[in-house]
Amino acid sequence: MTAKILLLPGDGLGPEVVAEAEKVLAALRDRHGLDVSWEYGLIGGAGYDAHGEPLPAVTLEKARGADAILLGAVGGPKYDTLPKDKRPERGLLGIRAALGLYANLRPALLYKELAGASSLKPELVAGLDILIVRELTGGIYFGKRSSAVVENYSVGSHTVAQARVASDTEAYSDFEIERIVRTAFEAARLRNKKLCSVDKANVLESSQLWREVVLEVAKDYPDVEVSHLYVDNAAMQLVRAPKQFDVIVTNNIFGDILSDIAAQLTGSIGMLPSASMNAQGQGLYEPIHGSAPDIAGRGIANPLATLLSLAMLLRYSLKRGDLADKLEQAVQQVLASGLRTGDIAAPGEAKVGTQAMGDAVIARL
Ligand code: NAD
Ligand code: IPM
Ligand code: MN
Repeated sequence: MTAKILLLPGDGLGPEVVAEAEKVLAALRDRHGLDVSWEYGLIGGAGYDAHGEPLPAVTLEKARGADAILLGAVGGPKYDTLPKDKRPERGLLGIRAALGLYANLRPALLYKELAGASSLKPELVAGLDILIVRELTGGIYFGKRSSAVVENYSVGSHTVAQARVASDTEAYSDFEIERIVRTAFEAARLRNKKLCSVDKANVLESSQLWREVVLEVAKDYPDVEVSHLYVDNAAMQLVRAPKQFDVIVTNNIFGDILSDIAAQLTGSIGMLPSASMNAQGQGLYEPIHGSAPDIAGRGIANPLATLLSLAMLLRYSLKRGDLADKLEQAVQQVLASGLRTGDIAAPGEAKVGTQAMGDAVIARL
């Protein structure tokens, strides 16, 4: 049966990078017989502009009917002053929640050709291959929020007559932790059988529960070596000796932050793909970077994180590991040929634009 893909370009550089992914899909269909069709949908600021909502109902309906979704990025300065529930980012959180996409896989893999682009010394990152498993539909992103003016507000012994107070809540239930931790253990089993759980259990109740559940689930995976790090130490270890890690499992907010760090270890945030899966095996695939307002619209963004996200889509949703391998090999060959977008170019090195990078990958498929 023909696989149905929904393309959600979103905002900023989103349409530029998703356009390259569409070209790749067309090439795979025409040259390799990939049985696929696709349509477009609006999300984020683009959804707001057209329908007054960052996640228009029609987009969600298309998403529910798709075999897989590929998203560019959402957000931008133009939308930063909108009421909170209309902000583009709420569209992204909304589709993650509505589809139950709790398991976010963010592989940080160093292509050896990019060792020089990493912020770390080449010997620290040579052969780097980490998988960050980020919980994506819970925690502080979805906990109770409030914002109010409070009279006679006290902090410690200090009281003020009036203060503007805002709060977000980090809350997790045991089953939310258990399912993401199981995802991570299963992934570790297929890799180097090492799992590091990252939390802040020395301070946070939610992290204490997190650690408790990890210890319980670990009993079912005696073949996987488990360790625990506090998030501050984990951030330090990631830039001190990143190769000590195999799979990292962590909550929504820590995973967001640690994956941007991991991305830069591989040369650029423009290189890091992701897959977000639900319990039914449906997936949304997206680069981990944002809409990059500083470079959007200039045709210079790196499309590789998006193309590598498409490779994950081919592997996990379309069960075409062969074509995923082919696409990843094409990316590797293009990097070996010396082609560089600005984010991964060494100082003084020649740079190509988004389209030239996409075309070079397609030429090698
Ligand atoms: P960002 O990831 O958009 O950009 C951070 C830096 O990385 C910028 O200097 C940017 O130019 C660079 N960069 C990002 N992607 C690149 C690529 N493909 N090629 C080359 N360089 C790239 O993060 P930000 O600036 O903090 O956020 C900008 C907007 O994007 C905000 O509105 C934010 O909410 C949104 N955002 C969206 C997502 C998403 O859609 N998944 C993720 C992060 C941020
Ligand atoms: C990401 C982004 C999003 C997140 C924002 C845009 C809601 O930073 O996908 O990493 O924090 O999850
Ligand atoms: Mn992020």
